Amino acid sequence: MIEAHDRATDIEVVGILGGGTIGASWSALFLAAGCEVHVYDPSPEVEQYVRDYIEHAWPSLDALGMIDRGDPDRIRFFSDPRQAVTQAQFVQESVPERIDFKRELFTGIEAALPPDTVVASSSSGLLLGEMQQAWKDPGRLVLGHPFNPPHLIPLVELLANERTADGVLERAEAFYARCGKVTIRVKKEVPAHVANRLQAALWREAIHLVCQGVASVEDVDKAITAGPGLRWAVMGPHMLFNLGSGGHGMDVFCERFGASFHRWWDDLGAPQLTTEVATMLSAGVRAEERGRSFTSLSWERDAKIVEALRALKRVDRLLAAGEPAASERITTAR
Ligand SMILES: NC(=O)c1ccc[n+]([C@@H]2O[C@H](COP(=O)([O-])OP(=O)(O)OC[C@H]3O[C@@H](n4cnc5c(N)ncnc54)[C@H](O)[C@@H]3O)[C@@H](O)[C@H]2O)c1
Repeated sequence: MIEAHDRATDIEVVGILGGGTIGASWSALFLAAGCEVHVYDPSPEVEQYVRDYIEHAWPSLDALGMIDRGDPDRIRFFSDPRQAVTQAQFVQESVPERIDFKRELFTGIEAALPPDTVVASSSSGLLLGEMQQAWKDPGRLVLGHPFNPPHLIPLVELLANERTADGVLERAEAFYARCGKVTIRVKKEVPAHVANRLQAALWREAIHLVCQGVASVEDVDKAITAGPGLRWAVMGPHMLFNLGSGGHGMDVFCERFGASFHRWWDDLGAPQLTTEVATMLSAGVRAEERGRSFTSLSWERDAKIVEALRALKRVDRLLAAGEPAASERITTAR
């Protein structure tokens, strides 16, 4: 029997359907991982956009040590989606978040796909079941939801269901792992999967605090980046609160702080994104931008993510090497 891992290393050609914000970033990642990339997009401007995106992304991928036999020129563009998938062993769909667009595309490519090709959708919030309706045989379709920009943020949320063929989820997992991604399995279909729901819950309260005049847009953002956001890049909320028990364990943490959390949860807001609220947030973000351009802010985001990832990888290497002195320093620095 061929293992999922071996079949992931067999993937030589990746089809990209939709070369916008997400498709361009995926293209850079898959090229870096040593694949050839075949892109379909109906817009004639996309080829230049994707090529420019790859040129800008390449130094970051290099700094992260993620270029594995990668060649940024092994990319081809097609005006027919069937041509972009006929040689692909893996296809990543990233067309706009519209079920009618996705269904039409899937119906159009199904007959052109090689028998074992896995198709992953980047959809942020559509249900796998809704997308499966376009297929005669939806066995090869999974959800492979990234976080923007996919070439830098490690997370990919994977979801399969009872209509997914055996081994398809494992093959997608192995391929993403080969590309340096961290995958989680979403076990139940819910709108927005896991990470976007968590993000939405936090943003809802962030907006509520601004609307109530508790803090400015800039200070709410600062409260995250200088506070819990920094810890969340290292450990998730459960493990961090476990450490917050001072070594007594999660059950003791829940006992000690349960009443406080219930009081806070009862007080959380539920704002709506009305025009008035959007105007208020817009003005707050403009003040926070201090006249800096989109390009400059994007550069700052990506440069800091790259440096943070490098630091995290260094610590992971120390932990993996089991160096007692280093591990001891890390675990006692609570
Ligand atoms: N932007 C994000 O932060 C983000 C994050 C994770 C996942 N996603 C998901 O990725 C997918 C793509 O989002 P995006 O932000 O890259 O969108 P986008 O608008 O930047 O890019 C979509 C691309 O698809 C092309 N396109 C338009 N109609 C098409 C069609 N019928 N067939 C094929 N291509 C078509 C467009 O020309 C465009 O280049 C969505 O499903 C979205 O939910 C987005």
